[in-house]
Amino acid sequence: MKNISENRNSYDARFADTLGGEEYDDLLIALEFYDEFQAETGKALKEYIQARCSNQKEIRVLEAGPGTGITTFQILKADPRVLVVSVDNEKKMLDAVRNRFAEVSELKGRADFILSDILKFLESCPDERFDAFASVYTLHNFTTDFRKKVIGLIAKKLKKGGIFINGDKYAEAEDPHKKDLAAEIMNYDKFDIAALKAEKEGNMKRAEHLRTIKKEWIAHTWEDEKNKITAEEQNEIFNELGFIDVKWMRRFDLVTTVSAIKK
Ligand SMILES: C[S@@+](CC[C@H](N)C(=O)[O-])C[C@H]1O[C@@H](n2cnc3c(N)ncnc32)[C@H](O)[C@@H]1O
Repeated sequence: MKNISENRNSYDARFADTLGGEEYDDLLIALEFYDEFQAETGKALKEYIQARCSNQKEIRVLEAGPGTGITTFQILKADPRVLVVSVDNEKKMLDAVRNRFAEVSELKGRADFILSDILKFLESCPDERFDAFASVYTLHNFTTDFRKKVIGLIAKKLKKGGIFINGDKYAEAEDPHKKDLAAEIMNYDKFDIAALKAEKEGNMKRAEHLRTIKKEWIAHTWEDEKNKITAEEQNEIFNELGFIDVKWMRRFDLVTTVSAIKK
């Protein structure tokens, strides 16, 4: 298993500390690619800003579903001029993430965490408000219709030339998707190994926790299959909404990152 402090600069490490150890460690047990995958969104945003925003004093980014704030951190790290509006409908998540960010001086005042359903927020927001939309592991949770409505409104709220970036579950064609799905489910066996280790160390509570989250994550993975979106379907949505320059980035089992520019 990867050591979470490997390949981190001190800025990353400080943020990782504020993420609250166990929740973050759990993610890395099963999804060893988690950090690299999150970084893809930050990288895409950084490249866009460098190429297109050199004269701007501030860069406004909208994020759906900050959750722990790990993606929010990647968004803010992309450029010091970035200001992010992060919308989540879970009060508990938002309260925790606000506290986490308040502890890191470089992040203070740059993230506005808003408690709202993302669709409601988008409906109330002025058009062409944002330079970028960036999100990870959120849109796949939505039903197909809801997701289409959300992406349609995001297109309106982006400025012309703005960027849409989403790191998420995007299914490949049927056969490769089956392999990706099997690989993801196998990743969750790593929870059993970690549970055995915890048992040997006498930490029965942790062992039980790891076995419980294994079951929960497998159930969640199957649940996600009901509303899964393929990369091809996402390309069609981009086409319908007039997005151009669609770029698909690295795939890690079920997940990959896509960006597209609003014409
Ligand atoms: C899996 S987390 C993703 C967190 C983070 N981006 C990451 O990659 O770890 C998804 C987040 O989306 C939020 N969410 C789900 N449905 C939402 C909705 N309709 N409107 C706003 N936020 C929503 C959840 O509360 C959760 O915090």
